[in-house]
Amino acid sequence: MNKPINSPFRYPGGKFYARNLIIKHIPAHSYYAEPFVGGGSIFFAKEKVTNNWLNDIDELLINTYFIIRDQPEELINFLDGEVATKERHKFYKHEFKPQDKLEAASRWFYLNRTSYSGIMKPQNCYWGYGEKYSMRPENWPRNIRRTSEKLQNVQITKLDFEEVITSVPDGAFLFIDPPYFNADQDKFYVHSFSKDDHLRLCRILYEHQHRIKFLITYDNSNEIRELYNWAVEVHDKEWNYTINRTDDQKNGKRRQDNFKGERYKGKEIFILNYFSLESPDLESKQLILNI
Ligand SMILES: C[S@@+](CC[C@H](N)C(=O)[O-])C[C@H]1O[C@@H](n2cnc3c(N)ncnc32)[C@H](O)[C@@H]1O
Repeated sequence: MNKPINSPFRYPGGKFYARNLIIKHIPAHSYYAEPFVGGGSIFFAKEKVTNNWLNDIDELLINTYFIIRDQPEELINFLDGEVATKERHKFYKHEFKPQDKLEAASRWFYLNRTSYSGIMKPQNCYWGYGEKYSMRPENWPRNIRRTSEKLQNVQITKLDFEEVITSVPDGAFLFIDPPYFNADQDKFYVHSFSKDDHLRLCRILYEHQHRIKFLITYDNSNEIRELYNWAVEVHDKEWNYTINRTDDQKNGKRRQDNFKGERYKGKEIFILNYFSLESPDLESKQLILNI
C-alpha cells in the first residue's frame, strides 16, 4: 500500500497541515529518509518510493512503529474493547506497567490518541480526547492496519540524526524536521535538542550537500537564515491550523464553543539545497536564491 494516508499518531510539531505545501517542493527520488520522523505526516502523506528510512531518537515512539509494522493484529487485539475515558487515560498513564514491547506500544498508542495534541512527555501528557474531533477507538484497528501496510519494507531506527544523514546513499532525498530553534521544545519531546545540536545538524548537512537533496523546515528566525545562507532556496510559508480543546482546557468558555477549536497560523521557512520545480506562489512571500 503506497498511497497517501494520514499519520497514525497525533504529534506536537507535526506537519499535517503543511503537508501539501511541503510535498509540492519534493523532487523525484527513489530513496527517502526522515531523520526526525515524529508522527511522519510527510512520509504518510506522500506516495511511497522504493527505499524508505524512518528514524527518531524517541525509543517508545519507535517501538510503537515497530509493533504497528510487524504485529498489527496483536496490537489491535490488545486494544480491543478499549474506551476513551479520563479513567482509562489515568490508568495507562500512572498504573499500567508494560511487561513487553507489545504492551509498551499499546500504552503509547492509547495515550497518544487520547492526550492533548498527542504530547507524550510525561510531565505534559494530559487527557485531550473529544468525541467530535478525535479518532474513536472503534476506528483504531482500521488506522493500525493501513499504517502497517504502508510501513512494510520500511527501515525504522532509533538513532541520533547524524547517523542517518551520514549513511544515506548518494542521491537520497531527506525531509528534515528538527525541533524548533526558538520555541520551547522541552515541553513536547522526551529528548531535548540543544543549540549545539542545531549547529551540528547544519554542519553535517553542509558537508553532505553535494551528495544528497534535502528540504528542512524551521521556525522563521534570522539565526537560522544566517546559518543556512549557503542553501539554494529559502521559502517563507504560512498555513492555517486548528487545535481542539477539551472541556477541561477551555475553562470558563462556553460549551458550544468547545468543538470549534482555536485557529492558529503556522509560519515556517523551508530550506532546500536544490532548485525545486515549485515557482514562487502566493504563499511564498519571498524567494532567496544564493547562487
Ligand atoms: C518536529 S518533530 C517531527 C515531527 C514530524 N515531522 C511530524 O510530522 O510529525 C521533531 C522530532 O525530532 C526528534 N528528535 C529530537 N532529537 C533528536 C535527535 N538527536 N535525533 C533524532 N531525532 C530527534 C523528536 O523525538 C521529535 O519526534
